[in-house]
Amino acid sequence: MTTLALDPAEASFQRAQTRSAELDTEIARSPERFRVLTGDRPTGPLHLGHLFGTLANRVRLQDAGVEVLVLVADYQVIADRDDLGDLPGAVTGLLLDQLAAGLDPDRTTFFRHSAVPALNQLMLPFLSLVTVAELQRNPTVKAEAEAAGARPLSGLLLTYPVHQAADILFCGGNLVPVGRDQLPHLELTRTIARRFNQRYGQLFPEPEALLSQAPLLLGTDGTKMSKSRGNTLALRDDEDRTAALIRGATTDAERTISYQPDRRPEVSNLVLLGALCRGESPESFADSIGGRGAAALKAAVTEAVNEHLRPLRRRRAELTADPGAVREVLALGNARANELAEATLDRVRVAMQMS
Ligand code: TRP
Repeated sequence: MTTLALDPAEASFQRAQTRSAELDTEIARSPERFRVLTGDRPTGPLHLGHLFGTLANRVRLQDAGVEVLVLVADYQVIADRDDLGDLPGAVTGLLLDQLAAGLDPDRTTFFRHSAVPALNQLMLPFLSLVTVAELQRNPTVKAEAEAAGARPLSGLLLTYPVHQAADILFCGGNLVPVGRDQLPHLELTRTIARRFNQRYGQLFPEPEALLSQAPLLLGTDGTKMSKSRGNTLALRDDEDRTAALIRGATTDAERTISYQPDRRPEVSNLVLLGALCRGESPESFADSIGGRGAAALKAAVTEAVNEHLRPLRRRRAELTADPGAVREVLALGNARANELAEATLDRVRVAMQMS
């Protein structure tokens, strides 16, 4: 037998994968044992990458009977930018995208950082439990600092994994759906919980990562789908815009359509997108186009995407017509999050002899 020396990041990814599969079984058996905390920064429209990567997973957990809390991470917007943009519009848009995707406010709690003071206060004791060196070593923080280019690292960007620990621990969240890049953050949350418990007495559970099973979708240019690259297909786009964006997608010169992600990333990405929307395998979707070339592929993908999104877009339009309803969803969620956060902060104060 050969022993492979894995680098630590790869080893922790593999452990998380194994554990996630076990967790899926436990969720199906006893959903009531889990509380999921997850969230997004309100910085722009959600796109198809979000739909297949995270939204579908949130809906699946909700429908399985797990309690789900969804954070609108508004304080995180200013971690790496000076301009809040149209924050009210972004918050409403983010909620509309999620409600339209099937998250049900009767079962899922939506709340925002800025409305829950006790959550933010947890960051103070938590900051004392980590070192600056630990934060500087965090691979995601490093990558984000590099992506920010010449922009100096803000104190909030350096410490946002600690803020994220407060986001998760304030409600006793024990399950966090994450992509691979967020694993180091969750590890830090676990460290903070453990150190707090050692120093002040058992109070926080150590949350576990639930890795998304969804395959990675690329943008229309074959690189990572991201708002800043302008290569995304937004859920809220209309059918004509979706068609235009797919028509402009990068392909290659080979006529026969196949699914070979390593050799033909751009074409394979379109194939994957069409297949996900149609609920079939990429291979069979590619075969259905065969030798008819890229134009036929794009036409089929456009039809698949627009058809898949039609009910979501219809629901979104209905919800948009009733702005009071979205405000109400957030007000109720904020109230519930405040109850949980105040109860946790009270226990923290007692544990720390500050009450
Ligand atoms: N960092 C996440 C993002 O950029 C948002 C987020 C904030 C989050 N706090 C969280 C995600 C806690 C999971 C758990 O999208």
